[in-house]
Amino acid sequence: MKYWKKFSKEKLIKKIDKALESTVDFENSNYLGYPVSKLDENVFNTSGAFLNDSPLLKSFIANPNNIGCHTVGKSEEAFKGSQKLEKEVIRVLAVDIFKAVENEYDGYIATGGTEANMQALWIYRNLFKKEYNANLDEMVILSSEDTHYSVHKGSNLLSIENVSIPVDFNSREIIKGELDTIVKNLISEGKKYFMVISNMATTMFGSVDNPDMYAEILEKYKVVYKIHVDGAFGGFIYPISNKQSTINFKNPHVSSITIDAHKMLQAPYGTGVFLCRKNLIENVLTKEAQYVDGMDLTIVGSRSGANAIAVWMILFSYGYYGWFEKISTLLLRTEWFCEQLTNLNIEYYRNPFMNIVTLKSEYVPSNLAQKYGLVPDTHNGKNNWYKVIMMDHVEIHDLLKFVKALKNIK
Ligand SMILES: Cc1ncc(COP(=O)(O)O)c(C=O)c1O
Repeated sequence: MKYWKKFSKEKLIKKIDKALESTVDFENSNYLGYPVSKLDENVFNTSGAFLNDSPLLKSFIANPNNIGCHTVGKSEEAFKGSQKLEKEVIRVLAVDIFKAVENEYDGYIATGGTEANMQALWIYRNLFKKEYNANLDEMVILSSEDTHYSVHKGSNLLSIENVSIPVDFNSREIIKGELDTIVKNLISEGKKYFMVISNMATTMFGSVDNPDMYAEILEKYKVVYKIHVDGAFGGFIYPISNKQSTINFKNPHVSSITIDAHKMLQAPYGTGVFLCRKNLIENVLTKEAQYVDGMDLTIVGSRSGANAIAVWMILFSYGYYGWFEKISTLLLRTEWFCEQLTNLNIEYYRNPFMNIVTLKSEYVPSNLAQKYGLVPDTHNGKNNWYKVIMMDHVEIHDLLKFVKALKNIK
């Protein structure tokens, strides 16, 4: 890892203090035209010794606005410090985790996975319009039936049809023959431009799609396509646990990636990440954003610089090896849990590189599922599955109680 280091607490605090110093100081400066300020001291406790050890609270109080995208063009002068830390986060993710070539990527901290997925669709829609004069009816979104509903939202907002590809019930793998037939039929209906959302861990199963399978079929039919990887859940696990993973920017089929920091990374809500190759994000330039210094290339407008600082703090508190250890512990717990289920002859799905185990519902009485907070695949009607996610708060101690309860009903 070139950039993903571990810093001491003192160093973290020093660097954040420095970043906040270069955020506009509303107390002592003349910024008459800025419609922003630090948090209201009449309402919030904005000073005191407790802040010395709380760089994130200090950041929320300073309230920098990281509006815009900072990997390209100019940015607002007033928030340089938090923009710099954001750029460092994007560099670690793009170069160290997702193997992008140095300076050949763009990205920003989005509000979450939903926005990052929509940002990708928005970019590709505009790209297809600009490069091929495509109309909306000629475009289509492809994604597996296990894909997160944010893609359906994106389809609705952009008025582009979304077609779900069936997966095998047990392996949760996209059925290649079905994908082939669907693409062939869509072409015969007049579709020419394909946007793919390929999951790097689905919400319910932790299953990982193979983007190369999409590419193979779309190339066979010689259509124009772009592939976006939805790593909202798996982005901070799968590339770390699966060292052979080719779902990254070394893979020419992958154009952009979503990652959420407010899931596995336990950052405050409002911290997703959007990454893409260079020369794509300009497709969503909003020229009318005249009052913002720099280019507005993001769906969201104003956004908290403190969220970027939070992700920066988490990444550099752990460093790569610290994070690797954390993920490894969660995966060991997952393996332990799977062993217990196997011993009980309970059927489940699990991707070996992921920390999600999804049990067939026929083995779990609904009162037990409710008692232990398992999540069903549907809240409407009969569900087929329940999932358990190994996070920091799900320890073997907790799993053991559930396993004992399962044993008792056998
Ligand atoms: C795979 C996947 N994509 C997208 C999202 C949407 O993320 P957010 O809730 O951060 O908008 C989720 C959320 O669970 C997800 O699991």
